[in-house]
Amino acid sequence: MTERTLVIIKPDGIQRHLAGEIIGRFEKKGFKLAAAKFMQISEEPVRQLYDVHQGKPFFEGLVKFLSSAPVLVMVWEAEGVIDMIRKMMGATFGCDAEAGTIRGDFGASKGCNLVHGSDSAESAEKEIKLFFRSDEIVDYKLTDADWLYGTND
Ligand code: RTP
Ligand code: MG
Repeated sequence: MTERTLVIIKPDGIQRHLAGEIIGRFEKKGFKLAAAKFMQISEEPVRQLYDVHQGKPFFEGLVKFLSSAPVLVMVWEAEGVIDMIRKMMGATFGCDAEAGTIRGDFGASKGCNLVHGSDSAESAEKEIKLFFRSDEIVDYKLTDADWLYGTND
């Protein structure tokens, strides 16, 4: 089943000129970009995005970081995209993430970790709604879909 996931290139990803690199990985993998907004998020939507972490010791620092500078918020679409993007992002912090992942290849920080990706279908649905109205998500076909997603059946 086709899924959608919310991806945010975080303030460090933008400031470190890594937006193109990160988007390029998802494009080359064959995922479909369905929506994008470049914006500075205010604190309140960040609190909602990470509400499962409310009360944890890192929560206020996380809210400050995510709302401190512009980010690129996107919706990516494909069958299985939620888990695949989580794998491509790597472990939460670059210092622990495997080489070959976005965080593993481009970060060593224990705070700034370049990218956010929804961790389940339920989170994706909630998170996409925080940033996009349904008419802002673009419905179209990739002309090479058979090559990208073909099964040889
Ligand atoms: P994200 O939600 O941003 O995609 O990251 P994630 O799933 O890999 O990590 P999660 O456990 O959901 O944590 C959300 C964000 O909170 C910060 N964090 N700091 N200091 C800490 O122990 C700690 N743990 C998490 C990170 O910025 C993480 O991306
Ligand atoms: Mg998370």
